[in-house]
Amino acid sequence: MTRPAGSVSYDNSGRIVLVTGGARGIGRAICEQWLRTGASVACMDRDFKSVDALPESILQICGDTSSDEDCQRAVADTVDRFGTVDVLVNNAAVQPRDSYVPIHDYTVELWNRITSVNLSGYAFMARHALKVMLAQESGVICNICSAQGHRTAREVAAYGPIKAANILQAKQWGVEYARHGIRVVSVSPGAILTPMVQATLDAQGGAAALANRAPVGRIGQPEEIAAATLWMCSSAASFVTATDLLVDGGIDALAAFADPWPLPEN
Ligand SMILES: NC(=O)c1ccc[n+]([C@@H]2O[C@H](COP(=O)([O-])OP(=O)(O)OC[C@H]3O[C@@H](n4cnc5c(N)ncnc54)[C@H](O)[C@@H]3O)[C@@H](O)[C@H]2O)c1
Repeated sequence: MTRPAGSVSYDNSGRIVLVTGGARGIGRAICEQWLRTGASVACMDRDFKSVDALPESILQICGDTSSDEDCQRAVADTVDRFGTVDVLVNNAAVQPRDSYVPIHDYTVELWNRITSVNLSGYAFMARHALKVMLAQESGVICNICSAQGHRTAREVAAYGPIKAANILQAKQWGVEYARHGIRVVSVSPGAILTPMVQATLDAQGGAAALANRAPVGRIGQPEEIAAATLWMCSSAASFVTATDLLVDGGIDALAAFADPWPLPEN
């Protein structure tokens, strides 16, 4: 028997959201769900060419979040087109295949590449969006972080610690701007089926093994992260700031000493 599971609906009409890395994966689901709920959506990404076209009404801004100038332009273009920025979702991050190595095998170039996008990029976007939000005395910033910012794994020498820093960025900025009508929160996904994860599945033991690691026994969908951003950035979460929401199929609660579930036969 299927029991009712409950549902929520959002009305984001009149709200303007700027999403980084929204051309594919989690960011794309965020753009599409915000658009469906009535928001005006701007998407900044460094690559719109190798993906299916985004819905026409989404403002596409080609840029790289590791460049402070590009971040400034992304905020300015969004304000030019839609009038302001109400919500910033910091989502663009990289986890290259060659980054699955311990720290002593890192090149300075690889280190700089990951920190410039995953750490500096979040700060550059925030600093420009915050100027707009401070002027209007309202706004929400949501950092997309990771379960690997809470509990680490082998061979995520830069990615994991930086995700922890992204959680702390949201806490620090949330505290700093709380009395200016601005909330800053973060969402930490577990394993979600996106191009990033597909490209590194072998490094994570394959799809079945990855799914089996989470108590729910499956990999999550990008829409399940987008749904969390809708709630975290809505008025229903008006007393929620400077905190993180894990959306991870329960993996953060599972101790390393717990017996793993047996892998499904096929
Ligand atoms: N997929 C997962 O399992 C998972 C788990 C935990 C956290 N996350 C986080 O979720 C976010 C999205 O991950 P995803 O799996 O959708 O990634 P993805 O690689 O599938 O998509 C990332 C998007 O960001 C864009 N991008 C990358 N660097 C950029 C830059 N410097 N400037 C502008 N755009 C850039 C890419 O072009 C791409 O469109 C990331 O912050 C990631 O760390 C993902």
